[in-house]
Amino acid sequence: MVNRTTKIGNLKLKNPIFLAPMHQVNDIAFRLLCKKAGASLNYTGLINPQTREPLFLEDKPILQFACNSPKGIKEFIKKYDKQVKGYDFNLGCPSPHAKKSKIGYFMINNTKAIEEILKTIRSNTKKPLTIKIRKMPEENTKKIIKIAEKYCDAMGVHPRTQAQGYSGGPDLNFARQVKTLTKLPIIYSGNINNKPQAQEMLKEFNFIMIGRSSIGNPNIFSEITNKKIKKFDFKDYLNLAKKYKLYFSQIKFQAINFTRDFEGSSKIRHKLSLAKNEQELLTIMNLKN
Ligand SMILES: Cc1cc2nc3c(=O)[nH]c(=O)nc-3n(C[C@H](O)[C@H](O)[C@H](O)COP(=O)(O)O)c2cc1C
Repeated sequence: MVNRTTKIGNLKLKNPIFLAPMHQVNDIAFRLLCKKAGASLNYTGLINPQTREPLFLEDKPILQFACNSPKGIKEFIKKYDKQVKGYDFNLGCPSPHAKKSKIGYFMINNTKAIEEILKTIRSNTKKPLTIKIRKMPEENTKKIIKIAEKYCDAMGVHPRTQAQGYSGGPDLNFARQVKTLTKLPIIYSGNINNKPQAQEMLKEFNFIMIGRSSIGNPNIFSEITNKKIKKFDFKDYLNLAKKYKLYFSQIKFQAINFTRDFEGSSKIRHKLSLAKNEQELLTIMNLKN
């Protein structure tokens, strides 16, 4: 089950287990570790197609667009198409920033823009296209499914409402209902923290995504997929982060993530938050340079 080979669109995958899109968390170093550990697909966090920031895509991720018009998509795909496995469109982001920019969850009523965006992506690439939604009213769900079916190869479902954010239980029945409303393969996302839970969800859904339980713990993917590979620690992250010259603030953020299960982790995290360089991070974490 956890190692069944599978496909999204024309893309063959060695298993149905993906790294969920996570803004700020999914930097290139972290994504590379998740891939090595066994995730068959990595999602990036939200990316505006008009961004001018440098993008590191060596892990060939699914690139997640967040926008409310097709502006810049054609040019973006022309520039990056060879470097990605495919694209996703975000309709789930619940944040105040998304609200202000009228993107993510806050554009679920803007079906005209949703269709224009998906159509533009679809007509500029042969690669797989997915869409990621949250729990929303049934009327919206039905309308969005209708559009998605014209352009997408799969649908990601994180069945929490916008008001819930990331807390409270995911509503499995919502994900099940989406499954009955569409023939699109479903990528289920929400509270999968171990192998038994992954197996359970894969009985019902085509693919699963792992989000929070991978934060600071890329090894969750080797645990779920039984991949025989060494356990990665913060030093593995740091080596890659240095290779890509990631900012120290990002490295520190991930150091804090990697210590979340350490004994006395709240004290360690506080010390890490005050660290001024890599050496200090390693010393606090009891790791040799
Ligand atoms: C820190 C963080 C950042 C996230 N950023 C994104 C994002 O950029 N795009 C997106 O579609 N979902 C985002 N999500 C939602 C996750 O992809 C996932 O659907 C959700 O966390 C539920 O899965 P989990 O219980 O495995 O974490 C984010 C979640 C977290 C915790």
